[in-house]
Amino acid sequence: MTIPLIDLKRGYHLYGREVEEAVLRVMRSGMYLNGPETSALETELADYLGVRYAVGVASGTEALHLILKALELPKNSYVLLPSFTFVATCEVVLRAGLKPYFVDIEPDTGNLSPSALRDSFEILKRQGKLVSAVIAVSIFGIPAELQEISSFCSQNNLILIEDFCQAFGAELAGKKVGSFGFASATSFYPTKNLSAFGDGGMVFTNDETLAKKIRILKEHGQTKSYYYEYHGINGRIDEIQCAILRVKFRYFPQELELRRTIAKKYFEHLAHISEIRLFKPPPHGNPAYSIFSIRVPNRDSLRDFLEKRGISTRIYYPLPLHLQPVYRDLSFSEGDLPQTEALCKEVLSLPFHPYLTEEEQETVIRAIYEFFEG
Ligand SMILES: Cc1ncc(COP(=O)(O)O)c(C=O)c1O
Repeated sequence: MTIPLIDLKRGYHLYGREVEEAVLRVMRSGMYLNGPETSALETELADYLGVRYAVGVASGTEALHLILKALELPKNSYVLLPSFTFVATCEVVLRAGLKPYFVDIEPDTGNLSPSALRDSFEILKRQGKLVSAVIAVSIFGIPAELQEISSFCSQNNLILIEDFCQAFGAELAGKKVGSFGFASATSFYPTKNLSAFGDGGMVFTNDETLAKKIRILKEHGQTKSYYYEYHGINGRIDEIQCAILRVKFRYFPQELELRRTIAKKYFEHLAHISEIRLFKPPPHGNPAYSIFSIRVPNRDSLRDFLEKRGISTRIYYPLPLHLQPVYRDLSFSEGDLPQTEALCKEVLSLPFHPYLTEEEQETVIRAIYEFFEG
């Protein structure tokens, strides 16, 4: 038996027919962009998160980019963010004319460490640097310590932006992740919790002015027909993707439950292996796992062992952003973020998706036991 890390076709038999009908409905309607599917999806997802405004955009990356663009933060001011994240979280900061500053993580959650955040802020302040915002990522679907980070941001006049591209559906203290920031961005990339059949993303905020501005910016900065007040982009999402997402959103609660059940089983079994460290959500956090990762000191040999048994794994992420060649000008070097660097050497993601069968999961767990017990 080969067990893929993720299998996007698996749920198709459940919702495929409805998806096909939805796609045909859009194709026959003649309305392919900025139509009823987009606005209905925006309303449905804003209601789900408990925020006032949602704007559908081309991807999670563009969602983050548009937030930063719309905020018009002081040019070259610093944005604090984790280095243990997907590259897009950092890429958009530079695109918006701002400076990324990497902050170390909490080893238990893999997310921004509130105390490291405070320290990084103080370092920059002492150097006379202006810090304008924080991007908190909820990695793998595990909520970041958003309450603490949010009060730190309010105390220090920093804008909190949430990158919850991997965490749609996660909760913290009874509130949805994605509703803590001044604005938040999610992704509908095919492997995400709520996913399209292509690219897509969404911005959420309670701020009407910001939402309106993002709507303008994603349409090239046009404020009336062929009249441009801002430098914008083409940041739209397709009607077809929105129609698909509306179907998949109806299956989302059950898929989320399946994700949580499968994660719980991994937890129960792997907790007995002393070499394995499991990520723990913060108190009152209810993760929405998009990826299931563990920490193991002998990660590469476990990975080879599983691979030989047909079990696919992946390393999210082997090299932290602060050590990536593309960011060498940001002047970070090895040793600067010890928790992040240690995690990148140990992290391993196991086969995980809502339709992983019990048999497949047991095969994975058994193989891991075999590796450690010899
Ligand atoms: C943490 C994080 N941020 C940003 C993105 C970017 O989203 P997208 O691929 O939709 O542009 C992703 C996913 O790919 C992500 O995992």
